[in-house]
Amino acid sequence: MPVAGTEVARQVNGLYSYLLVVSAIGFVILIGGMLYFIYKYKRQSATAKSAYITHDSRLEFLWSFIPFLFFMSAFVWGWLVYNNMRTFPDDALEVNVTARQWSWAYTYKSGKKSADLVVPVGRPVKLLLTSDDVLHSYFIPAFRIKQDAVPGRYTAQWFRADKTGEYQVFCTEYCGALHSGMLSKVKVLTEPEYDAWIGGGPVLLAGGKPLSLAEQGKKLYQERTCAQCHSVEGKTGIGPAFNGLFGSTVTMDDGKSFKADENYLRESILQSQAKIKKGFDKGKMPVFAGQFEDADVTALIEFIKSVK
Ligand code: CUA
Repeated sequence: MPVAGTEVARQVNGLYSYLLVVSAIGFVILIGGMLYFIYKYKRQSATAKSAYITHDSRLEFLWSFIPFLFFMSAFVWGWLVYNNMRTFPDDALEVNVTARQWSWAYTYKSGKKSADLVVPVGRPVKLLLTSDDVLHSYFIPAFRIKQDAVPGRYTAQWFRADKTGEYQVFCTEYCGALHSGMLSKVKVLTEPEYDAWIGGGPVLLAGGKPLSLAEQGKKLYQERTCAQCHSVEGKTGIGPAFNGLFGSTVTMDDGKSFKADENYLRESILQSQAKIKKGFDKGKMPVFAGQFEDADVTALIEFIKSVK
């Protein structure tokens, strides 16, 4: 087994060992029993007759019910571990991960970009994944977590590394010729080391000043005239206000409601007609599909998240 760098990884190890031991015991009982019966009940002569036995209800119940208990224990245990993997801590440090043939790129809130994932030890980290081209899958074996990066939408996963060090990242979905070379590293640093790293260059420069992701989004918000219809002070314009939008529940005209998460915002920017909020005019907002780069959409979403 690779090193276990997180609590979740140790939980996966525990479950895996349990499955291995139960399977081994099951294998010995089943195959051992079969071999023993082959020997014990071998026909002794050409005329020997076997006894007339139909069935034994108690035996049939037990050989079904005991395995059932083991299957259910694996299900419940697996569900508990999976639930830990999929429950995102609120205070997680968010990093955007973009997959492309054939590399991984990381963008931090500060606007800093990196080819390796650099994180502080002991803090929960949430990865927001997307892909520029085809389906990839982001896999950190030491943390026992794996998540598809899908073009045109966001997926997420999280971890809390409890030891400093370097861990290998693989792409684990066949994505073309250099799939096996689509590698990256997770570098887990101490908190002061991380602060020094995130504060240092290279940072995306715009007009000589480093822009955070939210600031890049704000720039787009002003330049691409989103501001004409969407206020950030809670005032309802031609479109809904942006502040407090992220994470809220949005109700449509037909009464259906959606949580305003990253995928909802992405769709509302690119396919603006898909889910119009109750009380707003269909057809007022232009469709922006093909007019924004994926990185622009991510920056805009980051800006919408930042206006409370
Ligand atoms: Cu990317 Cu395989």
